[in-house]
Amino acid sequence: MKKNTSFTLISAVLGVVLVFSAGYANEQVPDTTAMNSKVYGQHTKSLVTFTHKKHNVDYKIACAECHHVYKDGKSVWEEGDKVEKCGVCHSKDKPSREERKELSGAEKIKGYHYEAIHENCKGCHKDLKKEGKPTGPISCSKCHPKER
Ligand code: HEC
Ligand code: HEC
Ligand code: HEC
Ligand code: HEC
Repeated sequence: MKKNTSFTLISAVLGVVLVFSAGYANEQVPDTTAMNSKVYGQHTKSLVTFTHKKHNVDYKIACAECHHVYKDGKSVWEEGDKVEKCGVCHSKDKPSREERKELSGAEKIKGYHYEAIHENCKGCHKDLKKEGKPTGPISCSKCHPKER
């Protein structure tokens, strides 16, 4: 008996179209993000992949929880606006021991990538844990599985 190959072919094509159209609405938004900021001359730790899309879609976290542009102390960034890498503004790597003592918490976050990113990622995970909600890793080795 002869198989209905054209039907099989059409289903295969449709299947492919369905898979592609189920993607993220805004194509410029990455599904996962390899955190590898250029502010660090050399990375000392490995990092788990940041699940960008899952955070936004599955965990329902708005873009503006993580992306911002401040004007007069208030964020004016809106969805659809250009997104810069964190290190464009939080452009220094990590405060030295002296800087850590001299600077306020807000100054450290504003200046240093290390402070801004940990405040954002770990800060949210900690807050959710306190509220007893599903959350992400808080301990160093869960985000940084290895030295390198
Ligand atoms: C929720 C995840 C998370 C947790 C928890 C976390 N980090 Fe990080 N860490 C990051 C991210 C993201 C970066 C930015 C990496 C990049 O963009 O290059 C980073 C950067 C760093 C860097 C600078 C880059 C490098 O590889 O040298 C160091 C050092 C570091 N973290 C140490 C720690 C230590 C120590 C702890 C625990 C006290 C910790 N981190 C907890 C996510 C995390
Ligand atoms: C939980 C935090 C978080 C959420 C929510 C989030 N993002 Fe991101 N996004 C990041 C981080 C962190 C990066 C990596 C930035 C870097 O490499 O410095 C990034 C990277 C990007 C980039 C690539 C920037 C580049 O130049 O590499 C775009 C575009 C972007 N996000 C858009 C969005 C949009 C649009 C939304 C909402 C639909 C969103 N993001 C939601 C944290 C988030
Ligand atoms: C266009 C410049 C710019 C970019 C890009 C930027 N930031 Fe910021 N960010 C700032 C400034 C300026 C402040 C200080 C605001 C203040 O103190 O009024 C700040 C404050 C923060 C704070 C503390 C206040 C708050 O909003 O929670 C965190 C945490 C933070 N940034 C994390 C990040 C992360 C993570 C990224 C990348 C996903 C990022 N920032 C990208 C300029 C920027
Ligand atoms: C505003 C809150 C918020 C911010 C900001 C945030 N997360 Fe999360 N994260 C969550 C929640 C909520 C979960 C898990 C929810 C669940 O399991 O249902 C999670 C889970 C995770 C997980 C484990 C599951 C997975 O998807 O991989 C990792 C790793 C993680 N986050 C890393 C990061 C890193 C790295 C950053 C900063 C670039 C970050 N998160 C920023 C809320 C946040």
